[in-house]
Amino acid sequence: MIFVTGCAGFIGFHMCKKLLESGHEVLGIDNMSDYYDVSLKQARLDMLQKLPNFTFRKIDVSDKDSMIILGHDFPGITHIIHLAAQAGVRYSLINPYVYIQTNVMGQLCVLELAKSLPNLKHMMYASTSSVYGANEKMPFSINDRTDNPVSLYAASKKGCELISESYARMFQLPLTGIRFFTVYGPWGRPDMALFMFTKAILNDEEIPVFNNGDMYRNFSYVDDIVNGTIACVLEDREPGTHKIYNLGNDKSQTLMEYIQMIESTLGKKAKIRFEPMQKGDVRGTIADISETVADFGFTPKTNISEGVPNFIKWYRDYYRV
Ligand SMILES: NC(=O)c1ccc[n+]([C@@H]2O[C@H](COP(=O)([O-])OP(=O)(O)OC[C@H]3O[C@@H](n4cnc5c(N)ncnc54)[C@H](O)[C@@H]3O)[C@@H](O)[C@H]2O)c1
Repeated sequence: MIFVTGCAGFIGFHMCKKLLESGHEVLGIDNMSDYYDVSLKQARLDMLQKLPNFTFRKIDVSDKDSMIILGHDFPGITHIIHLAAQAGVRYSLINPYVYIQTNVMGQLCVLELAKSLPNLKHMMYASTSSVYGANEKMPFSINDRTDNPVSLYAASKKGCELISESYARMFQLPLTGIRFFTVYGPWGRPDMALFMFTKAILNDEEIPVFNNGDMYRNFSYVDDIVNGTIACVLEDREPGTHKIYNLGNDKSQTLMEYIQMIESTLGKKAKIRFEPMQKGDVRGTIADISETVADFGFTPKTNISEGVPNFIKWYRDYYRV
């Protein structure tokens, strides 16, 4: 049985769907937090609950008692994919406490659960490209220093990596942290650029473009991320090993290219309002994925010319616009 936290979230939903469609038995948890539209989370969950071999529990990952009980109830868990988190760089300026509670305390609770499982083969947890913070050396390599985070979100995720390193060593756990790079796709997050820009353009509203548009990202399509993560987690690891990988597209593209792709798919120009760089944000990300390719054959297949139209098709169908 594969245990997925944050199963009603954007990546968690796609992860569970892919695992279930490939015949795995999945236990999912989510606290259905109201950080963004809960009805979107519920719609994802409703789809998962129609698939065979899916069990859901509404649990807060940082609630240690519920997590201990979960371990007793499901001793057959063999793999963990820990995705539940308070995501988003900008919200950490508004509500810092939830980042430490969910991300740091949550990581500890999942590791404690992992420790208690008699059949655990491998646990993967989500980290982020944000841990590279203000680094200027590109591409970002997993061998680079990551001790200058520019947001509490990044600091909380770096904390998860450090806590995991100690747990792998102390309790002989087989752990992998995966630093995701800007994931997008159908059923995506309403607080991310693609969703916000699509919605605003369709509503004839202005879109704020930070750092005067001088930004670039490895825009990574969700199916590629899901396939890469599953390939990694299903490989058994030696007890006591903890490795970190970058997982993202192999190309970095500018925010303006991304916006142009949205415009050309919608057949409508964006009303752009250029704004200065936001606190907590970084100008660019470029992933060095050489170890990811070498160790579990990761090959990103989807470019924005295919991925952005896929998102917009989903958005128009889902919201009937
Ligand atoms: N989407 C990206 O571009 C991206 C990039 C880097 C890292 N990540 C990481 O990937 C993971 C998944 O991100 P996502 O984009 O799917 O975000 P998401 O917000 O859509 O999914 C996270 C899910 O976790 C749930 N959750 C939040 N707090 C919880 C708690 N205390 N207990 C149980 N569940 C809780 C939420 O309700 C949500 O359904 C996160 O760990 C995130 O930090 C995402």
